Amino acid sequence: MNRDSDAPVAVFDSGVGGLSVLAEIQQLLPRESLLYLADCGHIPYGEKTPEFIRERCVTIADFFHRQRAKALVIACNTATVAGIADLRLRYPDWPLVGMEPAVKPAAAATRTGVVGVLATTGTLQSAKFAALLDRFAADVQVITQPCPGLVELIETGDLVSPTIRQLLQSYVAPLLAAGCDTIILGCTHYPFLKPLLREMIPASITLIDTGAAVARQLQRLLGERELLANGHPQTTQFWTTGDPEDFRNVLRVLCNNSDNVRSFVS
Ligand code: DGL
Repeated sequence: MNRDSDAPVAVFDSGVGGLSVLAEIQQLLPRESLLYLADCGHIPYGEKTPEFIRERCVTIADFFHRQRAKALVIACNTATVAGIADLRLRYPDWPLVGMEPAVKPAAAATRTGVVGVLATTGTLQSAKFAALLDRFAADVQVITQPCPGLVELIETGDLVSPTIRQLLQSYVAPLLAAGCDTIILGCTHYPFLKPLLREMIPASITLIDTGAAVARQLQRLLGERELLANGHPQTTQFWTTGDPEDFRNVLRVLCNNSDNVRSFVS
């Protein structure tokens, strides 16, 4: 299939987390039109089996391929570890960008030699994450912390309640106790909690997430293929597999934008 520079870039996540990546793409590539799918009908991915997530990835990728998207961004660490290998086999010529916890930059940044990783159970238990640690973190101590429950609260637009504060505190405390000076936000939902997190940790601690790096990688892949959009005003179309009204409400809270939401049933 011929894909040209006018075609949109597709982005998906289990829910609103990928909006933290979408914002980086919009900032770096303001001319690109974007399609975003939030798989809210099947959230959270973090507690599902890899087989289930792989099937979701295929269903969503097939949908975007039919929409003639010129590239696909998996704006979800959990979906990337479970599904990207299958998608690369299924669509060898389609530019795909995935994401994984930023272990390499964190290992380079730490001064105490202790790095913390906040991520989903699925990401932390994956072979891909184990390989990442073997490759880049041999010389540092890595403290991993799964965070069940955070994603569900963020999905409701809750970034500040006493409930989420208490839950986040309970996940951060072991990292601080272990002496981490660098914390990886290994789930795309967590950047929305940065302000709350900053209230809980010393200012000297570095927080690392990968949204900006994903946007740069997308720019590189499109550039190599001469697929970067030129001159067209950007539009963003949203789909959700959950309730469109709920999604509109959370979009209003997280990005001040609630237009163009459609339902995707699958
Ligand atoms: N936002 C996703 C990630 O980056 C996962 C959230 C979920 O558990 O559904 O891993």
